[in-house]
Order: sequence, then structure tokens, then C-alpha cells
Amino acid sequence: MPSQDLSRRGLIATLGAAPLAALLGTRAEAQTVATRKWQVPFGAALRSGPLANEADYRSVFAAYCDQVVSEGGLKWFDLRPSIERFDFSEGDRYLAFAQANRMLLRGHTLVWHGALPPWAEAIDSAAIAEREMVRHIETVVGHYRGKIANWDVVNEAIADDPKTAPGLRDGLWLRQLGPRYIALAFRTAAKADPGAKLILNDYDIEFVGDRFRRKREAFLRLIRSLRADNVPLHGVGLQGHLSENQIDQAGLTAFASEVKAMGLEFMVTELDVVDNKMPGPPELRDMVVAARVHDFLGAIFAAIRPSAVLTWGITDKYSWVPIYFKRGDGLPNRPLPFDVHYKPKPMMQVIEHFCR
Ligand code: XIL
Repeated sequence: MPSQDLSRRGLIATLGAAPLAALLGTRAEAQTVATRKWQVPFGAALRSGPLANEADYRSVFAAYCDQVVSEGGLKWFDLRPSIERFDFSEGDRYLAFAQANRMLLRGHTLVWHGALPPWAEAIDSAAIAEREMVRHIETVVGHYRGKIANWDVVNEAIADDPKTAPGLRDGLWLRQLGPRYIALAFRTAAKADPGAKLILNDYDIEFVGDRFRRKREAFLRLIRSLRADNVPLHGVGLQGHLSENQIDQAGLTAFASEVKAMGLEFMVTELDVVDNKMPGPPELRDMVVAARVHDFLGAIFAAIRPSAVLTWGITDKYSWVPIYFKRGDGLPNRPLPFDVHYKPKPMMQVIEHFCR
């Protein structure tokens, strides 16, 4: 061991990032502006299969990402096989990969209407819903305290078409606990890790059309009411599952300006382009996809510098899009910044343009 080199960089080189990170307790200290790859941190969602089995997959994350999040593993379905048991095995593997590569891991997601195990779907009393939601947040955020610096505390709280206030989405938590479940989730998370950034995450905020305008309004209404009640909300996440719909650039810039004026962080959490209704030829499709991402990021950057931009997967080889939005013409979907051979696509150039 070169005994003189006690600088951070020297120590990291000598010990390897993972043990040092463990020694120091990780979190933001593990990543300063100088050690980041991007001006605006870029990241992507991980999947366990290729993470375990594919060196190319791991390399592209290591080369490009400042941050990672996981598509699954930290959802109730994965963490709570039964009401008694917590299973952190998958989440811990993502954390180990993030720490070994000096990337921040985001936590997705503590409270959501989706990905609930059958026993949770069957909860039929407010008392049990509250007890399990609170215990879940305390246990999971507690397990990753100081290690996951940023949590999607509540995901998709707004209804798909919020015609009347407050416009919250139907689901287990709203049905059993009423609108107060949201503040309760944030307060519980803040107690479990006072250092973590707590995010409210949602989608369908960016498009042209009345339904999307109503969704923006309902989202802002919820954000304002949480702040009026002094709920520990630190930022707003836009999933950014784009599509053939046009981006309402003025609407999105106005939305981002409002968030900025409230002093909240703004991040893009799940960017990809659902391309099942876009033109077939791959070169043309890649250009349309890139143009859509350009419109989206352009409208956001016109108002605020996001605290991070994360895509929902990194390669077209592994994406949720073909599972839910397969193309009618049988051509493969191309929703992400890298193609199936890990070659960067025009979408990556657009992200580089804004974030590098
Ligand atoms: C998706 C995952 O990508 C899939 O692998 C899984 O089967 C279902 O969930 N919005 C979200 C994400 O917040 O959690 C969803 O992820 C995609 C839509």
C-alpha cells in the first residue's frame, strides 16, 4: 500500500471503491462533482438477470452512469413475499453493484398501487394497511439508511384522468387510508432516514391534450398541499415514458418553473420512448425517438436544471416496452439510448447534449 497517498482518490485506488464506501457510509460523499461523469448526473434502471450474466451490460452502466435505480427488487412484490418476511437479497445486489462502481442507487418505490404481492392486495382494513405501510417504510428505508440517498416515496398518486379535485388514483392505499396516506408515507420515510431525498414520482405530465393538462394541475395541487402541510417532500420526479404524443413544451416548462419556484428538486426518473405507434424503419424511428426526447428535455432545461436524468433501462435488449407495447408490424421496439448491441443511438446524443 503506498502509505503517502492518503487522498480519497488514492485510498479508493488502493482499497477499491466498495470497501471504502462501506467504511465511510457511502451516500453523497462517495460522489462529488469532480468524480461524476456528467454535469447533470445520468443514470439508468438495472435488471438482475443481465446484471448477473452479461459483462457488456455491466460495462455500459459502469462507463456511462452516475446513478442507477432498479426496475424491480425494491417493490413490495419482491421485498415482501409474505406479511412477516422482508427479502432484501435482490436490492442488496443492486446496492453492491452501485457501490463497487461509485454510483448512487435510487430507491424505487416505497408506496405504489402496483406490484403488490397477493397478501397485500387482499388487505381489507385501514388498521392493517396503515400498520403494514408504516412498517414497510421503516424497515426498508431503515435497512438502506445512509446507502440509498434518494427514494421514490409515493409513485403514481395522481389519477389517469383527474377530472375533479383532488384527482388521486384509486388503489389499495387510497381506498383504505384516504388521501392522508401520502403525507404519512413521506413523514415515515423522513424519520427512517433523515438524510434521504424524498421524491413524489408520476407520469403523463408532459403531453399535449386536456387529460395531460389536468394531470399536471392535479400533480401541482398535490405538491402544494403537501408543502402547505409541511410534509418532508424534497423533489418531484417525472417518469418520462414518452410516446407518439407531442410534448406540450410550454405546459411542461411552466410546470417545471412552478416546481423550481417552490425550491424543490426536479428529476427525470424513467425516461424511454414507447415506440409502438411510431414509423417502422429503424433509422427513421431512432430520429423520431431522439426528437421526442429533445422536445422533452428542452422544455425542462428551459426552466430548471434537473438533479438527475435516468432512463428506464439502458439497452433496447432489456426494456419493459415490448412486454406492454409490442409493435403491430413485428419489428423490435427501440425505446432506449443503446441498441441491442450496446451501440449508442441518437437518443444518447440528445441526452449527452443536455447533460454532459
Ligand atoms: C415496470 C418494470 O419495468 C417491469 O419490469 C415490471 O414488470 C412492471 O413495472 N412506471 C413505473 C415502473 O413506475 O415501476 C414500471 O416498471 C414502469 C412504469
